[in-house]
Amino acid sequence: MTTHELIETLESLVRELEKALGQASSLEALEELRVRFLGRKGKLARIMPLVGSVPSEDRPEVGKAANRVKTGMIEVWDAKKAELEHAGERQSLVGFDPTIPGRTPDRGSLHPITLVMNDICKTFVSLGFEVVSGPEVENDFYNFEALNLPPDHPARDMQDTLYITDKILMRTQTSPMQVRTMECRTPPVAVVAPGKVYRRDSDITHTPMFHQIEGLLVDKNVTMADLRGTLDAFIRTTFGADVKMRFRPSFFPFTEPSAEVDMSCVMCGGTGHIDGKPCRVCKESGWVEILGCGMVDPAVFTNVGYDPEIYSGFAFGLGIERIAMLKYGIGDLRMFFENDTRFLRQFV
Ligand code: DAH
Repeated sequence: MTTHELIETLESLVRELEKALGQASSLEALEELRVRFLGRKGKLARIMPLVGSVPSEDRPEVGKAANRVKTGMIEVWDAKKAELEHAGERQSLVGFDPTIPGRTPDRGSLHPITLVMNDICKTFVSLGFEVVSGPEVENDFYNFEALNLPPDHPARDMQDTLYITDKILMRTQTSPMQVRTMECRTPPVAVVAPGKVYRRDSDITHTPMFHQIEGLLVDKNVTMADLRGTLDAFIRTTFGADVKMRFRPSFFPFTEPSAEVDMSCVMCGGTGHIDGKPCRVCKESGWVEILGCGMVDPAVFTNVGYDPEIYSGFAFGLGIERIAMLKYGIGDLRMFFENDTRFLRQFV
């Protein structure tokens, strides 16, 4: 083969490849052509040994032609590949509707108990109270002794209290926060303490863990009228201006006098009946009990080093689950703890 013929043969490879590429419609076909033309045993590779057979003065020229041909082949092949890939992208967009709304991920939300707890705290903060918190694992002194609960008081019974050791227990009420607060402050004091409490109790209307909010106000000349006014403001803010409130005499070791507070039943509007049928929430009475309260017992003041001759105060404690049930009209306490998202989603 003459030098001229060899260069001709080499150059015809580019045209031949170009023609073949024109027919190729898939990336697989493209790859096949790469192997056939540019592969180790491909057309170009098979011609290359002939370069050695031309007269030595012609070799630089033939060598250059061979390089040019190789670059040219790679270029046309690359261009075809880019074209096919681009077409593939366009194809994958066929049937894509950019107006279809995206999938919204599920968002978490605050638990209804947390919502009610935050709301109640907000109401008391607007009345000048401060929110404080303390330990759920408590010792006997704060949970019982300092609150004037003598050692033989039935509330200490193993039936009610979850003991960890003889003296360490899960707090059965948020009232120990009264003692913890007074211990490290001087009056005037006005705090609310929300949190979890624990009792050995489990049935349809009781869970071993539930939530309370404790309130405490101590100053000079605090009277039961202040207590009543404060609770009245709280109940009206939470349940509306039409709700009525009543005090019933009661007993708590850490308050004297003590009272339980009822409000008119929000389910039946205080009538005791819904559509002529007895209201199950208030058991036909028209009233529901919502909290315990009273004037701080002088013995508690003495336990924390306050002079009961100078200071007086009131305290109250309420169950948050109960308030949430009444506020949202929920009939079963267990709903709060099952964490069924269909239930929880309603409170977003
Ligand atoms: N700690 C009481 C309970 O768990 C509730 C209570 C009653 C709290 C009267 C008070 C109070 O602060 O004055 O049943």
